[in-house]
Formats: sequence, C-alpha cells, structure tokens
Amino acid sequence: MATALITGGTSGIGAAFARALAARGDDLVLVARKPDRLAQTAAEIQERYAVAVEVVIADLGDRADTIRVAERLTSTERPIDVLVNNAGFGVHTKITAADTTPHEHAMDVMCRAVLILSAAAGRTMSERGAGTIINVSSTAGFVTMGNYSAIKAWVTSFTEGLAVELASSGVTVTALCPGWVRTEFHERANIGVSKIPDALWLDADELVAACLDDVARRKVISIPSARYKLLMFVARHVPRATLRAASAKLSSGRRSG
Ligand SMILES: NC(=O)c1ccc[n+]([C@@H]2O[C@H](COP(=O)([O-])OP(=O)(O)OC[C@H]3O[C@@H](n4cnc5c(N)ncnc54)[C@H](OP(=O)(O)O)[C@@H]3O)[C@@H](O)[C@H]2O)c1
Repeated sequence: MATALITGGTSGIGAAFARALAARGDDLVLVARKPDRLAQTAAEIQERYAVAVEVVIADLGDRADTIRVAERLTSTERPIDVLVNNAGFGVHTKITAADTTPHEHAMDVMCRAVLILSAAAGRTMSERGAGTIINVSSTAGFVTMGNYSAIKAWVTSFTEGLAVELASSGVTVTALCPGWVRTEFHERANIGVSKIPDALWLDADELVAACLDDVARRKVISIPSARYKLLMFVARHVPRATLRAASAKLSSGRRSG
C-alpha cells in the first residue's frame, strides 16, 4: 500500500489530490498550517475512503517546519511513495513595492520548501528505486505576470532539472502547470476574477485526474486541458515582446475591485 504526502492538502488543488489518491487506496499525510482544517479534512477522507490519514501542522514559510516535513519524507519505517509539493498562494504585490517581504515569503513557501522537500524525497525514493514527485507549478510560469510568474517558472525549470537528475532512478518527476482553477487561491490573494472567461476555468478534480494520467505516462510537464495546451504552445513560440505585452493586459484585467 502506498502513502502520499501532500502539502496544502486541505483546500483546492491539494484537497483534490488528497481525494484522488485516497480513492485509489493511498494512505495520506496532509501538511498545512491550520490545525482545525487539517483535522476536518483528515476525518472526511478517512470516513469516505477508509484510508489512514496523518496530519502535520507546518508553515512551509518557516525553515525549521520545512525541515520537520523533510524528516517525515526520509522516514524508512513509514516510507512516503508520492510527494505532492502543492502549498502556495498568489502574489499580487508589485515587484517594486517598498516592502519586499511578501515576495520573500512566497519564495520561501513556493521555492525554498519545494527545493528542500523535493531533495529529501528524491534522495530517499531513489535509494528505494521507486517513487513519484509532483510539483504544482502554473501556466503563469510561461508568461510574465510579476514575481509569481518568476516563482512558477523556477518551479517548472527546477522540476525538469530534478527529472534529469533522477532519470534512471525509478522516480517519476512531474511539474503540473494548471491554468485558472476554481479554489480559494484568488480570494486569499485578493485577485479579481470577474474578467476571466468561463471557458478558461478548470475544475480541480478534473485537473488532478489529468495530471495523474500524465504521471502514469511519466510526462515531466503536465498541462491539463486542450485549451491550455494550445495557449501554452503559443506562449512558448511568440516573440518575448509579444508575450510581455499580452501579460501586461492579463495583469491589468486581474486587478480586484
Ligand atoms: N487556483 C489556481 O488558479 C492555480 C493556478 C495555477 C497554479 N496554482 C497553484 O496551485 C497550488 C495550490 O493552490 P490552490 O489554488 O489549491 O489554493 P488554495 O485553495 O488557497 O489552497 C492552498 C493550500 O496551501 C496551504 N498553504 C498555504 N500557505 C501555506 C504555508 N505557508 N505552509 C503550509 N501550507 C500552506 C493552505 O492551507 P493553510 O492555509 O491551512 O496553510 C491550503 O491547503 C499553489 O501552489 C498555486 O500556486 C493555482
């Protein structure tokens, strides 16, 4: 029986991974900050899917907490077979804002923690000759919408580097690049969504099912849905100046209020 550790497994895309992996019989380790929500999510999943669910209360913006999660990943007595590095949030602050701490915090959670946890899981899984690492990136990483795009471009590039390093190890490494998904993400980051066309919204459960199909095919970059595959093909082939101009339009359309 497999065990999956999911960061940010209490909401949105992470909760969809928790449901999908529990439905196939995996035991879970859920990591997030809010104890009540962790306990509630664990109880719901245990009752619905009859799998074991462990919770780890950790703030992945905190290095010591992140190291504690890494130690759980390297346990040989209770091995982790699947790591989903999913915890994250929108960064809507201008790069030139006087206070750069929101950016630093975002990079701690979405870059530093991804690095530390991927390294721990990659090392331990490759010693066993099997395992799966999924890093939740974003299609935002293919455009130029502020520091969030830069962070997610790093996640995708880092994941490709890890896939190269672990190529013959038996460990599957995948960067999931979602488009817009209906979760708590936009409200938490105060991002206006009224101008986003309905056709561009993805459902979290469908997104995760498509990602797990890509993982089974050992795809390194997973971009679920035909429309986002097409959009990202265009984004990767137009001149960078055109991409920046389109990104500027998209950014202005996302402003709240
Ligand atoms: N929604 C989208 O449109 C979209 C598109 C592309 C990519 N993504 C990416 O998908 C991932 C999940 O986002 P989502 O849309 O599912 O957001 P969400 O519904 O807001 O869920 C975020 C999850 O991350 C946890 N989390 C946040 N900060 C954390 C921290 N410092 N330490 C530990 N856990 C933390 C939250 O739990 P606690 O608050 O309890 O900690 C929650 O479980 C993110 O990496 C995001 O960048 C989202």
